[in-house]
Amino acid sequence: MTKKIMLSAVQPSNRLTIGNYVGAVMNWTKMQKDYDCIFFAVDMHVITNSRGSEDLKRQTYETIATYLACGLDPEAATLFVQSHVKEHAELSWILTCHATMGEVSRMTQFKDKSSKHGEMIPMGLFAYPVLMAADILLYQTNLVPVGADQKQHVELTRDLAMRMNNHYTPGWNKEGATTKPLFALPDPWIPKEGGKILSLQDPTKKMSKSDADPKATLFLNDTDKEIEKKVKSAVTDSGSEIKASDEKPGILNLLTLQSVLTGRTIAEVEAAYVGKQYGHLKVDTAGICVDTIRPVREKTAQLMGDLTYLDQVLKRGAERARERAARTLKAVSAKIGFIPTT
Ligand code: TYM
Repeated sequence: MTKKIMLSAVQPSNRLTIGNYVGAVMNWTKMQKDYDCIFFAVDMHVITNSRGSEDLKRQTYETIATYLACGLDPEAATLFVQSHVKEHAELSWILTCHATMGEVSRMTQFKDKSSKHGEMIPMGLFAYPVLMAADILLYQTNLVPVGADQKQHVELTRDLAMRMNNHYTPGWNKEGATTKPLFALPDPWIPKEGGKILSLQDPTKKMSKSDADPKATLFLNDTDKEIEKKVKSAVTDSGSEIKASDEKPGILNLLTLQSVLTGRTIAEVEAAYVGKQYGHLKVDTAGICVDTIRPVREKTAQLMGDLTYLDQVLKRGAERARERAARTLKAVSAKIGFIPTT
């Protein structure tokens, strides 16, 4: 039986965070055996919000090294860098011509990010979700495991796929249809717990790679000391009861981290702290984060010492990805009426 296709990606806009791990990469590793997997680093997405630089190059290698360090299998999964597969840009343009300003303007991430640019909003920032749709649709993806913040983008992708299927392959969804749709319809997969890990300094907002306050974010290559310091100084409320409640987002965030990193339910973790203080919760959570991050940090550092190996992985991944992407793009181009290249 052919496996369903699972695809996801991270922006190499900075070091990866424990939020990226819990919301995304950890789940990819858990599900990788059951799916035909495609994972990549979306360097073209990064330049929608910042100028390219040597940092981008290092961070892109580091993202791939982190994927491997977290346990993704480069033999089984297709691992590559977005800019190595030109079909992403090409399909993105075609989708841009089928998306509407209205639907793209509704993306909350665009609203958040564009507000930081004043009058000078880069066009790429607006088009960002359409490039993401191209990433997904090029590979006939069935499942997209992401954190909660990406759900809206996957839904837009699905709407675009449906629209194009209806237009170019009418009847594709009728009972007993023999017409093959242009695109598979992707479903988002969001973890029940950990889909939104919060900032350690402001638990009303998401933990982010680009937070100006370094104490707000646990990075996957922080030292043991840094992790301990950050978790122990995590902002909580002024109470003393350890309770999983939306009114205690700082506490809930630490309980959630413990739960997803140890495989226990939040209720089980909560039960272990009856009669204990915030300090106990912080010390234990810090220890669990150290135990999770240390092997990832060490393995990533080791892989970053061997760029030749990483280049080999990326070359093979891009070859595999190109072959698949070209197939979809060829079918789309034919429907649109582009003369095939000979
Ligand atoms: P990015 O780079 O912002 O985040 C990568 C993944 O990590 C998840 N995530 C979180 N999960 C839980 N808690 C958090 N605090 C947290 N922060 C981030 C994100 O939801 C995401 O799954 N647009 C995407 C990258 C992308 C993509 C794609 C993803 C481009 N093309 C195609 C899937 C499929 C992004 O910026 O992710």
